[in-house]
Amino acid sequence: MRATQVRPTGIERTFGENEIIVTKTDPRGVLTYANDVFLRISALTEDEAVGQPHSVIRHPDMPRAVFKLLWDTVRNGQELFAYVVNLAADGAHYWVLAHVTASTDEANRIVGYHSSRRKPDPRAVTAVQELYRRLRQEELRHSSSPAALDASWAMLQDVLTQRGQTYEEFVWELTNGSAA
Ligand SMILES: Cc1cc2nc3c(=O)[nH]c(=O)nc-3n(C[C@H](O)[C@H](O)[C@H](O)COP(=O)(O)O)c2cc1C
Repeated sequence: MRATQVRPTGIERTFGENEIIVTKTDPRGVLTYANDVFLRISALTEDEAVGQPHSVIRHPDMPRAVFKLLWDTVRNGQELFAYVVNLAADGAHYWVLAHVTASTDEANRIVGYHSSRRKPDPRAVTAVQELYRRLRQEELRHSSSPAALDASWAMLQDVLTQRGQTYEEFVWELTNGSAA
């Protein structure tokens, strides 16, 4: 949790095509490592990042359903690619195409998670923003968090069923530019 709430300024930050934002977490999602690119883009020092839950950069526009998908997938030992908008400590936001996966020991037990993120195609961001806006709107109709999550999870499944796609296929279609 942040000590003080960061208010989004609406200012978008981008980063280089060749840069990769990397973080690692423990099994509960507490940051154990953040690379220089992460710290710069997130306007955090290493001391402010490491030891904090990864939600330290959570943006209020991100639907809960997407984080449920993320955690369900990686806890299962599978990898996930997802579009995420993050909130820097100075209120700017930045979009990423994130790859998240488990780190395992020799016995294949999950000892933590790691994520690397690249700059997404702006056309993909436009398409995904529209989906996330609908999911967030649905979540905001419910006063309790579990009800909000159930409703947006159901909506996400409906959207994907209608498209005949998994979230992963949806991501790749956007990444290839054909649906954007
Ligand atoms: C390896 C890894 C990377 C993550 N990266 C992000 C991220 O970039 N932004 C984010 O908001 N949440 C990220 N999360 C998810 C957070 O742990 C958390 O579920 C999310 O911010 C929602 O927080 P909340 O449940 O407190 O609302 C990541 C989790 C893991 C395991």
